[in-house]
Amino acid sequence: MKRVAFCTFGCRLNAYDTETVRTLLEREGGWQTVGLHDDADMYVVNTCSVTSQADARARKAIRRLNDQHPAARIVVTGCYAQRAPADIAALPGVSLILGAADRAGIAHQVDALQSGELTLAVSPIEEAKTFLDVPITEMMERSRALVKVQEGCNQACTFCIVPQTRGRSRSRRPENVLSQVRGLVDAGYTEIVLTGVHIGSYGLDLDKPSSLLRLIEQILDVPGLERFRLSSIEPSSIDVRLIELMASHPKFARHFHIPFQSGSDSVLKRMQRGYTAGDFVELIGQVTELIPECGIGTDVIAGFPGETDEDFANTFDVLGGLPITYLHPFTYSVRPGSTAESFGDQISGDVKKRRTRSLKRLSREKAEAFAAGRVGEVVSVLLERDDKRGIASSGWTDHYIKAHVSNPVEHSGVHAVRIESVEGGQLNGFRIETDAGSTA
Ligand code: F3S
Repeated sequence: MKRVAFCTFGCRLNAYDTETVRTLLEREGGWQTVGLHDDADMYVVNTCSVTSQADARARKAIRRLNDQHPAARIVVTGCYAQRAPADIAALPGVSLILGAADRAGIAHQVDALQSGELTLAVSPIEEAKTFLDVPITEMMERSRALVKVQEGCNQACTFCIVPQTRGRSRSRRPENVLSQVRGLVDAGYTEIVLTGVHIGSYGLDLDKPSSLLRLIEQILDVPGLERFRLSSIEPSSIDVRLIELMASHPKFARHFHIPFQSGSDSVLKRMQRGYTAGDFVELIGQVTELIPECGIGTDVIAGFPGETDEDFANTFDVLGGLPITYLHPFTYSVRPGSTAESFGDQISGDVKKRRTRSLKRLSREKAEAFAAGRVGEVVSVLLERDDKRGIASSGWTDHYIKAHVSNPVEHSGVHAVRIESVEGGQLNGFRIETDAGSTA
């Protein structure tokens, strides 16, 4: 059997896209998936291009794979391949460069490759009109399954390259989303994580328009589903009905990841984010009023062009005062093709690094404080089985904190855990019995 291994960079969307490619290769091409450290006949590198470091990491991985496996084919896809195929074509050993909208026929494209030749299949992304809908009922991860429901973005944030790498917003049909969720639940997946580039625009482009809220309500009704989580969602996409649904539904994990990007109104305006720092503060207030223990993560960019010390201090102060539970700080990096590429006042590397370090420190402090507040509480943890050890002794709380238990179980599942201590922002506790006598 032909063996294929995958190397994935970037976000959850990319992780899902790798699952799509894997499914197509296994189902239509008869390939067998092996680990990245195994010998394979072909390596698929799914790249990210969110920063220049992401590009550099992808190039390094491709070079390393070619050095280690000179006889293997290397297929490169993902955001970097879509944005700059010529960069990838210049690397040694690459057999196929596949654009974001060109993956449907991957099994046949791979079969048609001629030894020693490079095939370039990268269509203009702005022409992509449909969602590549491949039913997936098995994932490389065991207990949590991603379900992608939407691709592309119609916003025009000036720092962002994603509209150029993934195209305009397009939604997956709700019946296909629900059928996949049912299939994954039947296959034993405990938690479903809904993902997309801009999930708030879900459904607006469908023949029969729908909405994210409607879709979530339908998913929560799927029998056997234990836990449901949203991935990143834009502030403008959260309304009070969504917060109320999360507050009231026991399966809906109390966790939002809401990108903030900056606490300076002038920076937000130049980023074209469409909200002010005050709007964001108000939104977080609405969330915590209805869900006091909500886990709230955010993205923030350090060193956007023209960001003054005062702008950064505003960002730091606003975040410091909010009940945010963790931050994902990004050091701004010019993305070729983005609007901000032409902005003056680029910030020096040293200043960007210093600001990023401050945000990382703030993130650690916030994560530790939030975790410390959970000591003595009973929280819901999805314990995930570690196949090497044969037990499930750690996992994630519904508010998205890593937790360990002293009394593991054999199989993955959601359990009620009493938290006894905190170490480095992670929780330690023990599983308890519910009133009904079984583990919750
Ligand atoms: Fe994701 Fe990176 Fe593309 S973050 S959307 S893989 S640029």
